[in-house]
Amino acid sequence: MRHPEFPLSAELIYLNHAAVAPWPKRTSTAVSKFAQQNTLYGSSCYLDWLQKETQLRVQLQTLLNAPDATDIALVKNTSEALSFVAYGLDWHSGDNIVSSNEEFPSNRIVWQSLSELGVEFREADLAQAATPEDALFALVDKQTRLITISSIQFASGLRLDIDRIGQFCQQNNILFCIDAIQSLGAVQFDVQKCQADFVMADGHKWMLGPEGLGVFYTSPASREKLKLTQYGWHMMDNTHNYENKPWSIHPTAQRFECGSPNTLGIHALSASLSLLLETGMETVEKQVLANARYLMAAIKSRPYLQLLTDETAKLQSGIVVFKHKQLSKEALYAHLQKNHVVCAMRGEGIRFSAHFYNSTQELDKAMLLIPD
Ligand SMILES: Cc1ncc(COP(=O)(O)O)c(C=O)c1O
Repeated sequence: MRHPEFPLSAELIYLNHAAVAPWPKRTSTAVSKFAQQNTLYGSSCYLDWLQKETQLRVQLQTLLNAPDATDIALVKNTSEALSFVAYGLDWHSGDNIVSSNEEFPSNRIVWQSLSELGVEFREADLAQAATPEDALFALVDKQTRLITISSIQFASGLRLDIDRIGQFCQQNNILFCIDAIQSLGAVQFDVQKCQADFVMADGHKWMLGPEGLGVFYTSPASREKLKLTQYGWHMMDNTHNYENKPWSIHPTAQRFECGSPNTLGIHALSASLSLLLETGMETVEKQVLANARYLMAAIKSRPYLQLLTDETAKLQSGIVVFKHKQLSKEALYAHLQKNHVVCAMRGEGIRFSAHFYNSTQELDKAMLLIPD
């Protein structure tokens, strides 16, 4: 039985939410309505669109538990927000940034590009200490300005203790940046508890939205530390006063939105988030983790499979990675694709990422399709 919001094509088993998710039915409806409105009325309903934008900021504020909706900027994607931070901070030659050697390229190459300014990017081997957090802390010294980390690692499912890292950063006067794309919409997130300065995520994974619209959280104090790298009418205070001369920078996170908003994406993402928030993130997280546990148990029960995700870790995520002892990951991936199991090839193996709405019947079916 399919969840009524996910009437996916009958042959598909969709276990790829850590890559690109399918849209809920309500999101398709919202986009169709928006398209129809544009066709019939153009932008006559622009005030309604602005209201939708405000609603989305509040939804994202709720998802992050941000103190205020004005701390939320709507950006193109995670990479853009990471670039805002990397090129916004005032670096000095000799500064260093601590991260891990498991990061998605978006949270690596932008920092490496700062080597031209004499800034060093340090990659901790997260497996080489008592805890992954200790591996990060071991690389920190007096010149460390920032720790940047994915809250959940894309290729292993490793979930870091971001509250502990945030506390360490606070105590040592280090800025804290989180790529939260594998957390937001899957597990509960509390930006106040983890004391992050900067958090970013795109909407097309666990948040069930379209590509091309993401969230960028900054605390008011951290925001002031970022020099702006993009300019346009929309990031001025008094945005709609086009005779605004001289102008000043918008006091809120809107300063990172230089031009016209992605109104189509806003309608879509807002509809997707309404499903998650109606369901409740506590329930969503419970189901996501239950599905991951179910998959891990099924993988472990097959002698010809090897579970690569650490099932003993204190914190768990929605990502499960495994490999076949006889088949290459390429061969197994091709086989699963042929059998309509939508998943990904990541790290050493195959990544399954089930969302809250996937049923155990679907998970059983996917497991049965793996040859021994
Ligand atoms: C950890 C992580 N960060 C970032 C991204 C994608 O970045 P962007 O939103 O810029 O496309 C991915 C996509 O797989 C990811 O897994």
